[in-house]
Amino acid sequence: MTRTITPLIAGNWKMNGLRSAVEELGELARLMTTGDAPRAMVVVCPPATILHAVANRGATSGILAGGQDCHPAASGAHTGDISAAMLADAGAQYVIVGHSERRATYGETDELVRAKAEAAIGAGLRPIICVGETEAERDSGEAEAVVAAQLAGSVPESGGEHGVVVAYEPVWAIGTGRTPRNEEIAAMHNRIRAVLVERFGDGGESVRILYGGSMKPQNAREILAIENVNGGLVGGASLLAKDFYTIISAV
Ligand code: 13P
Repeated sequence: MTRTITPLIAGNWKMNGLRSAVEELGELARLMTTGDAPRAMVVVCPPATILHAVANRGATSGILAGGQDCHPAASGAHTGDISAAMLADAGAQYVIVGHSERRATYGETDELVRAKAEAAIGAGLRPIICVGETEAERDSGEAEAVVAAQLAGSVPESGGEHGVVVAYEPVWAIGTGRTPRNEEIAAMHNRIRAVLVERFGDGGESVRILYGGSMKPQNAREILAIENVNGGLVGGASLLAKDFYTIISAV
């Protein structure tokens, strides 16, 4: 049952963080080891340039590291890209794939996102597969159908295993300070669970479904209490150790 899933709080630093940001991680590590023991697994996904440093710095305090994207191929002539194996080699255990910023900016399709998720699994990483509707899609009543289609296209056939994570991030809630109403989050997460269980059976029951989009210290507790919300994917509020720790503590 979903009740037994240990929640996961993941911070997506996006394109923020020079080497000095590893200090901020030191502050998070201090809070996590001196405060109440977190009831969630904690992952930080920094820019690739400091992934290795973040993985090392976080290791002693239970903070796991993740990448923000990977190429579907294992290696080859792909200038500027990073393979899942390289992320794993740098210390990552997770990787975000199909974030809406990448879907929008680089035209990433469900098919490509699925290939990236498969590459991640092949390299021993747990993919955090992002889905979510635009504001126009929500306004026209299509949100659940859009997300169900994204799940069908983006989640690999082995999606009920390997610690695959799904993140529901309504595009219009990202970085805007706006969030869906709790009933809307509940309805979407229940729908995602139903889709996963229909496709993967028992495996679909244990897939973590994260909520992302303007999650912050002020709203984390109520969002994380919603059924089938098994954690959060946090952008802006993950950049400040104090705010991120408050969200972690809200579990
Ligand atoms: P914000 O928390 O800044 O809205 O970003 C959410 C997000 O995109 C996490 O991947």
